[in-house]
Amino acid sequence: MGTYLVRAQSAPITPETSTVITITVDGVAVDGLLGQTLAGVLLASDTLAWRNTSFGNRPRGVFCGIGICFDCLVIVNGQRDVRACQRRAAPGDRVDFHRDLPLRADQGESDSLT
Ligand code: FES
Repeated sequence: MGTYLVRAQSAPITPETSTVITITVDGVAVDGLLGQTLAGVLLASDTLAWRNTSFGNRPRGVFCGIGICFDCLVIVNGQRDVRACQRRAAPGDRVDFHRDLPLRADQGESDSLT
């Protein structure tokens, strides 16, 4: 009778050896693991919020985690409005936050947002 032991190396749920990658987040080098989403790297580095809402200036980071809510938008390598929960981190990625957007309705730049 054969054995049904599944070796750890061949078990489909066992993660492979992790490869550490480095990205730049708001000018600071941050380590992550190859395969992680940008949101995963941000959360693992204790960054819970990285943009503010137009109304109320409320902090936002990951809400749904599945690409629906767009709360997690970041700038990646100069490309705006990238959903951090949907984009895998690549070595050398430069992630910036949307600080140049009008953050609050009372800042006078967002009359068209009403
Ligand atoms: S957390 Fe909702 S789209 Fe990314």
